[in-house]
Amino acid sequence: MNWHDQVCLITGATGGIGKQIARQLSARGATLILHGRNEVKLRALLNELNNQRHCSVIADLTTEEGRNTIFHTVKQIGGLTMLINNAGVSGFGMFEQSNINQVERVITTNLTSTIALTLQLLPVLKKQGQSYLVNVGSVYGSIGYPSQALYCASKFGLKGFTESLYRELSGSGTNVMYFAPRATETSINAGEASALNDALGTAVDSPEWVAGELVKQIEKQQPRKTLGWPERFFVKINAVFPSIVDSALVKQLPVIKRYANFSVSEAK
Ligand SMILES: NC(=O)c1ccc[n+]([C@@H]2O[C@H](COP(=O)([O-])OP(=O)(O)OC[C@H]3O[C@@H](n4cnc5c(N)ncnc54)[C@H](OP(=O)(O)O)[C@@H]3O)[C@@H](O)[C@H]2O)c1
Repeated sequence: MNWHDQVCLITGATGGIGKQIARQLSARGATLILHGRNEVKLRALLNELNNQRHCSVIADLTTEEGRNTIFHTVKQIGGLTMLINNAGVSGFGMFEQSNINQVERVITTNLTSTIALTLQLLPVLKKQGQSYLVNVGSVYGSIGYPSQALYCASKFGLKGFTESLYRELSGSGTNVMYFAPRATETSINAGEASALNDALGTAVDSPEWVAGELVKQIEKQQPRKTLGWPERFFVKINAVFPSIVDSALVKQLPVIKRYANFSVSEAK
């Protein structure tokens, strides 16, 4: 792949993983449209990357106005070859403690808005001979995990959406990919979520490494990629013998409840 030919929109480019994707793609020569909600963070990233071809767009993905702003920015710079749907929020906490605002926030941000933005930008991508649509899911898009019901609902949905689209767009020139990291050291895992990972001894990857794996996936044009061992193994076992994973996770439940028995996080 010639990265110098790529014009790439990264949603959530100001976040832990998004920023690392931006750094690595910029270093390879891609032209970037950096998306986020925070002007200060976006300007700092643009300054750091120091490339006149890059630009940024401030928009709340959950609003039609925000998605239209992104669409017009893409049009202004003359199109797009790659869309990386990376923005997302956590829904950590026991389901019974959540309220409808939190349900809507997680599902709307992680799933509905991502689908809506893709719907708007797919015709722009398809104008290119070769284009790329990369959806950042999660291991929790394949394993239902206690204390992650809302997040799992959103990421299972995203995985199904991506798989359908991969098959639907086969041979069209638009390459569709699903990327599933495991726990990664970013602010999405702040507070009790991070404490739970420590208590369970869950491996946590660096966002820099995770972004590098995403870049490799795109270069190899792998339709699906799940990170981490034993997570990759559990994803496969869960698909074939879910009762084995039921037992393993139910054993963790007392520890999970100790950290997740509060209202679903509003902050992230
Ligand atoms: N960290 C992990 O353990 C992990 C594991 C598996 C998958 N993932 C996935 O990786 C992706 C990146 O997560 P991260 O860990 O880098 O989290 P992060 O550091 O919290 O970054 C999330 C990014 O999404 C943006 N965002 C959130 N809601 C938005 C909205 N309504 N409109 C526009 N932008 C919005 C944030 O912008 P603001 O700065 O304005 O909030 C931020 O740039 C997510 O899809 C996440 O589900 C993460």
